[in-house]
Amino acid sequence: MSHSPELLHRLADTVGTPYWLYDAALLRQRIADIKFITGTPGVQARFAMKACPATKVLREMAAAGIWIDAVSGNEVLRALQAGHPEGNDPPVICFTADVFRDNALEVVLKHNVLPNLGSPGMVDVLRHAGYRGPVSMRINPGFGHGHVNSCDTGGPSSKHGIWIDDATRVKEAAERSGLRVVMLHSHIGSGPQFDELVDNLSRLADEFSRIATHFTHLEAVNLGGGIPHNYRDPAATVPLEKLRDLFAEARKRLCWSIGRDIRLEIEPGRYFVAPTATLVTAVTDVKHTVTNAKGSGATFAMVDAGFVDLVRPAMYGSHHRIEVVGRMHEEYREPMVIAGPLCESGDVFTRDETELLQPRDLPRPRVGELLTIHDAGAYGYAMSSNYNSIGKAPQLWLEPDGSVEVISRRETIDDILKAETSELLG
Ligand SMILES: Cc1ncc(COP(=O)(O)O)c(C=O)c1O
Repeated sequence: MSHSPELLHRLADTVGTPYWLYDAALLRQRIADIKFITGTPGVQARFAMKACPATKVLREMAAAGIWIDAVSGNEVLRALQAGHPEGNDPPVICFTADVFRDNALEVVLKHNVLPNLGSPGMVDVLRHAGYRGPVSMRINPGFGHGHVNSCDTGGPSSKHGIWIDDATRVKEAAERSGLRVVMLHSHIGSGPQFDELVDNLSRLADEFSRIATHFTHLEAVNLGGGIPHNYRDPAATVPLEKLRDLFAEARKRLCWSIGRDIRLEIEPGRYFVAPTATLVTAVTDVKHTVTNAKGSGATFAMVDAGFVDLVRPAMYGSHHRIEVVGRMHEEYREPMVIAGPLCESGDVFTRDETELLQPRDLPRPRVGELLTIHDAGAYGYAMSSNYNSIGKAPQLWLEPDGSVEVISRRETIDDILKAETSELLG
């Protein structure tokens, strides 16, 4: 989605750069897509809120009847604060983790949200904490992968979940501890091409059908997230009917093998939010290096956004479309490296998993012009950091009527210092 240059400049003049711009209409379209996919009886969507936990986004999900997958105590608190109900009947908020950290256990117990256990030892932790009630088990089915190799969501090298062959043993331990296993869960990732995803999801449904009969309290099976988003082609679409049929069919198969009705859940993160936010940044300089014995020269467009704002390219080599605002109709392009302000050579937006520099063909930008980095709504602001003490950029929210709300302001030095203390211990 390309916003008008006038709007982008007006907002830059008002809040400075870089800034994030969310498009409410696009988010609502993606929510409608998921509602369509899960529109058959007994199928329920959750939002994997780690992808974009802004209260504004969580409220849209609540209004649309989308449930929540939270991965920390504070994510649960954010979901509650945005209006999602506590309790496990129905389990609108599910807490998925391999480790209980900080306030997670306390929040799960206090608000009675459904714990989804990603490690066998979590059974004992819950028992010792006095929890007696429903649990879900996250299973590692032995296959699946994310959008890059380092995103390893299933298989022998993945840290996530309880190995499938251990599932019945862990279930018995849970039941001896007064924990009823009401859901089987697995997230196999959004890496595969669409056909591979469909194959993986069908295979997962088969694996769950095979073991589900041992789980006498089972009320639901959750097939995780992983609906892919095409970061290269804004016109690409996902065959929604195919997914809707796949989930309806998987639920039927599971109900048949278990011998009663169960709920089928999915929990996409990226698909809901990836296209909904654009990171807008200003060009501060254009400079070059010259080919020598060490390697090839390059032209660098320096911008004021860095991996403290959007870390996906630096962390995974992820591709994000980049445009020079108002200039993309120009035919003459030059290979351009887009690099940020951080004191790190890896602070480059045009790279892949292995190559530090992958110049992009773009019109040569001029100092002061704006660049847009697209499809940054998933794992964008959510993964931003305070490295180099820069402070997070503001998030703006655009409604279809053209109104714009600041949903988080630019962080200041006070925000950065606020957790520092000089408290003496003992
Ligand atoms: C347990 C779980 N569910 C859902 C998701 C969402 O995945 P995606 O954003 O690729 O749909 C993730 C992502 O890491 C996850 O770990």
